[in-house]
Amino acid sequence: MATPVMDKAEAEAARPADSPYITATFRIRRFNPEAAAESYWEDFRVEIDPKERVLDALHKIKWDLDGTLTFRRSCAHGICGSDAMRINGRNRLACKTLIKDIAPEKPITVEPIKGLTVQKDLIVDMEPFFQAYRDVMPFLVTHGNEPTRERLQSAEDRERFDDTTKCILCAACTSSCPVFWNDGQYFGPAAIVNAHRFIFDSRDEAGEQRLEILNDKDGVWRCRTTFNCTDACPRGIEVTKAIQEVKRALITRRF
Ligand code: SF4
Ligand code: FES
Repeated sequence: MATPVMDKAEAEAARPADSPYITATFRIRRFNPEAAAESYWEDFRVEIDPKERVLDALHKIKWDLDGTLTFRRSCAHGICGSDAMRINGRNRLACKTLIKDIAPEKPITVEPIKGLTVQKDLIVDMEPFFQAYRDVMPFLVTHGNEPTRERLQSAEDRERFDDTTKCILCAACTSSCPVFWNDGQYFGPAAIVNAHRFIFDSRDEAGEQRLEILNDKDGVWRCRTTFNCTDACPRGIEVTKAIQEVKRALITRRF
């Protein structure tokens, strides 16, 4: 179904020659459980500068064409992790994806991330994802007396988990993982990344406990090293490498 706006040829003819705008078609997977049991594709034609982002296009659609379009976003600058979605078949943050980089001459598909239950349009139920995150104890655990000043750490020790501190919990990795698609019980890459961040922190004292949690049948051994997670991460985290380091720590008990 196309939105009842000026057709593409008319829009292009009406535009001044020096306008940076193009007419892009956004093909969005819609789902409203209160109206129908099945999801469907809906096309929206948007006049937009290709230097703008997919999130800007979604805003235009919601504000000017169809106020019922439902999606999450907060910071709009790649920090909060709330707008991960499948854009042209690949997990990306809508706020970090420029339209010019995703072949706007063809319809741009936008779908919810996979492996989590869709609640409405582009919104999925994130609770299983956050439960796996909570299960690995994503906080510093120490015993004994509180120090009188900060807990010191060498630059080398800090470096060991630097990469995994960058996670914004967007779920792009976990929802691109075929093991997670087939069995939502798997902890998933993001939970392992956040366990890694504390297991390899020299100040933390619960590494063994976290390793045992990930030694579970739904834990780190389910990873099949497909690298989908690393490819999907908008923060450039070497997710597969972090998972491998956790596997190695489980075997050697050295971390
Ligand atoms: S590891 Fe990367 S892709 Fe996965 S949740 Fe964190 S930021 Fe998102
Ligand atoms: S809206 Fe916050 S990361 Fe995109």
